[in-house]
Amino acid sequence: MPSLSKRSEHFSVNPSFVLAMGKVFSNVYHPENNPNGIINLAVAENVLVSDWLCKTFHQVAVDSPLLPINLNYTNFCGENNFRKYLVDNLMNKHIFKRLGNSEFDKEFANINNYYLCNGAGNVIEMLAATICDAGEYIMVPAPLYLGFENDFNKRFFAKVLPVDMEFDSSSNTYKLTVEKVRETYEEHSKTKSIRGFLLCNPNNPTGDLFGSAIVRQLIDFCKEKNIHYISDELYALSVFDPNTSFESVSNVMTEDDRNHVHVIYSFSKDLCLNGFRMGVLFTMNTGVKAVFDSCSYFMGVSSGTQHMMANFLKNEEYVENYLNLNKSKLLEQYTMMCDYFKQHDITYVDAKAGLFVWFNLERQMKKYLTRKHPEIDVSLPLTEQEEYEVWLDAIDIAAVNVSAGSFFKTKQFGWLRICFTSAHWPTMKIGLDRLFNLLNH
Ligand SMILES: Cc1ncc(COP(=O)(O)O)c(C=O)c1O
Repeated sequence: MPSLSKRSEHFSVNPSFVLAMGKVFSNVYHPENNPNGIINLAVAENVLVSDWLCKTFHQVAVDSPLLPINLNYTNFCGENNFRKYLVDNLMNKHIFKRLGNSEFDKEFANINNYYLCNGAGNVIEMLAATICDAGEYIMVPAPLYLGFENDFNKRFFAKVLPVDMEFDSSSNTYKLTVEKVRETYEEHSKTKSIRGFLLCNPNNPTGDLFGSAIVRQLIDFCKEKNIHYISDELYALSVFDPNTSFESVSNVMTEDDRNHVHVIYSFSKDLCLNGFRMGVLFTMNTGVKAVFDSCSYFMGVSSGTQHMMANFLKNEEYVENYLNLNKSKLLEQYTMMCDYFKQHDITYVDAKAGLFVWFNLERQMKKYLTRKHPEIDVSLPLTEQEEYEVWLDAIDIAAVNVSAGSFFKTKQFGWLRICFTSAHWPTMKIGLDRLFNLLNH
């Protein structure tokens, strides 16, 4: 067999949570056809509004059928008509809300500052590659979205440097401070080249939001060190806590930040359209823009998908109705989830946005493992290997797939993440029962 490149070895390695998907997809739970199959509560999908979306897209296709031009190549950065509706009816109306008349405000309405890519993963990968040479780092507060490492590293060899957020057990929240970011930077910058800082806000996995004061401090820190500030705002429109609102980094930005700040968005989460593979980069940095302009051929979204999405976004009533419906479904399901956890006396971080519950089962995992391996010292904290063993048993024995805390770069083991929108409540409840039955019996 002819040999392959050295790179190919690295390309063909997958993290364990990706490998597990092979098992999960080959034995998917179905209440009638495969009741013993695996219930997948790990992947960030939202099925709660799928029926509404399918019906609406059917109507969009009837009202605005494909035209011959939609069969052709298009502007790979995003077709102009599509970007117009994206910017006017979604980004600027619901997320950025930078609607003033200053020259700087107008940048947020300029479609040429928006790049449509093949999912946010694709944006993250290309942005990391644009900012970092191989082996250089981007700081990310941890626990952090488990895909960042793969996205940064897989093809372009950039790296994640976690900034540990402190868990406050009196309020069950994680605290991020600019002092901690500075401390991490000072500790590592002597030996590593740190090129940027990424904040996932609203946060995956905790579901928490970071306010404008800390965001401002973080941008100022990045400017002081002359590194990039990346805001991953994928869950901006999935804020379901009625007492909270999200403030995008765009509202905090001043003219002087234009070269440092980049925003990532996607239709995968807020619009429940993971399969459409539509991610967005907003940037005013001319160097970054030149890269995305030149490489857009590798990141394009099909003309047909753009056509369909443009006609969905054009109808402001669709967008409005959808956002309201989604928020009410998120709150309803999240409340059921929390009730379940309260009944089981489980510590969880109170989410305000997003699709996840981040909860702690260290005590239950330890007891489970002590029954399995009586030699284990129950008084010692759970280790990463022990957490991993429970995660594997949950898939192999209990037929439920959740995400183990160590995948999110936590240092305290025993946390898990469930995507509470990945199944309707009856299936979700069976999945949770399976997990708790495994650990308790
Ligand atoms: C915070 C965050 N960023 C990026 C992504 C990637 O999303 P996409 O499906 O648009 O590639 C995800 C997906 O779960 C995510 O949660």
